[in-house]
Amino acid sequence: MFDCNFMNILITGGAGFIGSAVIRYLINETDHKILNVDKLTYAGNLESLATIANNSRYHFCQADISDQAHITQLFKQFQPDTVMHLAAESHVDRSISSSAEFIQTNIVGTFQLLEISRHYWENLPEEKQHLFRFHHISTDEVYGDLSDLSSELFTESTPYAPSSPYSASKASSDHLVRAWHRTYGLPVIITNCSNNYGPYHFPEKLIPLTILNALQGKKLPLYGNGEQIRDWLYVEDHARALYQVVTKAKAGSTYNIGGHNEQKNIDVVKNICTLLDELAPNKTLGIKSYKDLITFVPDRPGHDVRYAIDASKIKQELGWEPEENFQSGLRKTVLWYLNNQDWVNHILTGEYQKWIQQQYHPQ
Ligand code: NAD
Ligand code: TYD
Repeated sequence: MFDCNFMNILITGGAGFIGSAVIRYLINETDHKILNVDKLTYAGNLESLATIANNSRYHFCQADISDQAHITQLFKQFQPDTVMHLAAESHVDRSISSSAEFIQTNIVGTFQLLEISRHYWENLPEEKQHLFRFHHISTDEVYGDLSDLSSELFTESTPYAPSSPYSASKASSDHLVRAWHRTYGLPVIITNCSNNYGPYHFPEKLIPLTILNALQGKKLPLYGNGEQIRDWLYVEDHARALYQVVTKAKAGSTYNIGGHNEQKNIDVVKNICTLLDELAPNKTLGIKSYKDLITFVPDRPGHDVRYAIDASKIKQELGWEPEENFQSGLRKTVLWYLNNQDWVNHILTGEYQKWIQQQYHPQ
């Protein structure tokens, strides 16, 4: 008899921001065995898994999801009961300056993984076939944007209207995943989540970029007028939601995940400055507050105005809701960056430096 408390879970992209939070959650809170399959791009960092890396239920393999032979071999060896697919190119600005990797990993890579999963799943014994899930982790950005003058929310039936190469590549992969369910019967689930924040976040995204730029006395760039709105969710709440979904959701279902926490970018940045003024007051830059470093820079092309999620389905059907509120989550996040200088220092070299030089981030 198959015991659902001891699953083999294959996770792609487990060395990234959200994937590493999912793996830390699964190792600390469950008895499942994990295989982390990650290419280790600039965004993948095994240091984010240092706290669980020695656990005997955790295994890592460096591999590209587009490498069919290698991934097929890993399926044979590990015999996953479930796949959680997080590997992706994830940054909108990068997708605007260089989209090829987004098409390759997010679309072609997802296609390869679907095909490998399908062939593997078709050959499983019936009981395991019934329990198998291909959980595709996606974004609310597939829905396009909402007006900042309306109170409308994205629901699971909002039509897709992606704006950026990133969101278009994620929308394409969502469509492939649904097609593999409808056409081949592969038991898939899709989750579309709002913006995550928290520890181990690569500092190309707004919140960690603001924290680390401020600590280095650099300008804090706000695109356009800074009035755009995002719905922020603490990453550990997302990891908990994904576990609820992958263990409870019906094959073929979709869930939106969000924080009920709409914030203007300018307010997020000012909040971070207020926290840093309290926790790491600066005496050398000759500024009264880190807010003096805020700088408005040219807008992102095609910039989405507002994202906001209706997360009532996951609450009603699976009992999940966020536990962290934005003030406590943001304080935890700032403290984490202040207390984890080694992780930060390793990130602030190499590839990151090259990238940051090319952006419209005034130094
Ligand atoms: P991330 O950029 O921090 O991590 C992505 C990980 O995928 C990295 O470890 C990278 O090495 C790996 N990877 C990239 N290409 C690969 C390939 N070809 N083969 C194997 N591994 C590869 O991203 P994240 O923020 O952790 O996002 C994870 C997933 O969640 C993505 O699918 C993203 O679209 C989705 N998502 C992110 C957010 C967010 O706010 N960050 C919100 C909603 C959904
Ligand atoms: P980001 O963290 O890149 O996530 P996403 O584009 O997926 O929402 O950006 C969050 C918001 O912050 C978005 O509206 C763009 C804006 N932003 C800035 O104003 N300045 C910055 O330096 C960055 C990186 C983002």
